[in-house]
Amino acid sequence: MTEHRIFHDAASLARPAGEALRAAVRSASREGRCAGLALAGGSTPGAIYRTLSGEYRARIDWRAIEVFFGDERAVPGDHPDSNWRMARESLLDPAGVPSERVHPLPAWESDLDGAAAAYESELLALLPHSPEGFPVLDLVWLGVGEDGHTASLFPGSDALEESRRSVVPTTSPDGQPRMTLTFAALDAARHVQFLVTGRRKARVVEQALAGDPDIPAARVRPRRGRVEWLLDREAAAGTEEVEKE
Ligand code: 6PG
Repeated sequence: MTEHRIFHDAASLARPAGEALRAAVRSASREGRCAGLALAGGSTPGAIYRTLSGEYRARIDWRAIEVFFGDERAVPGDHPDSNWRMARESLLDPAGVPSERVHPLPAWESDLDGAAAAYESELLALLPHSPEGFPVLDLVWLGVGEDGHTASLFPGSDALEESRRSVVPTTSPDGQPRMTLTFAALDAARHVQFLVTGRRKARVVEQALAGDPDIPAARVRPRRGRVEWLLDREAAAGTEEVEKE
């Protein structure tokens, strides 16, 4: 059974997310390196990131984190739909993350295959490697769409079957070009936390926690790491009762 924890509201998810990031920074520093963090996009994380950049501003060494992205839309970095812009405004700038530690996914490039390959090289240059040769992120935050997608791994997409590359170009169901980490990269991570809030996600959460193979988010299974679902009460409406935190 996939581990899940239920919290009062969206901002409350910042505590387990912040604690996981603190642990990742401590663990990486014992290895003499920065922690590798991949950020979730979309609208859910904003409230969590804003709480993190406030309450956890002084509790985390934000200069000791290499910040990557789980996926990005094919828009400039200042576009309202940019995950990079959302992260800059809600987390990276307020928390004082040095710009040289932030690695946006260049989904706006014309040569998307070349850009994906370059991003994979950047991940491999800055992170430890798994025995299978994939970059090992210390912590990955992910969201889930109502159709079960996570990052930009959409149901029925060829990207779901990618087993060699860590980063690939893809498109959303409405045809928007995207770039995304693949299951190969996500499953090499040490710790994955799904951050999910709101009643409209209750059904997909129930399906994902039941291991429905048609739900891409349910297929994130770190080989040597941990995956947990952090839910607010509304997103947890379809799950059996467990202790609320
Ligand atoms: C994106 C995200 C995507 C997101 C889900 C949930 O770029 O859209 O990476 O995977 O996490 O679509 O989005 P909401 O938080 O907006 O519901």
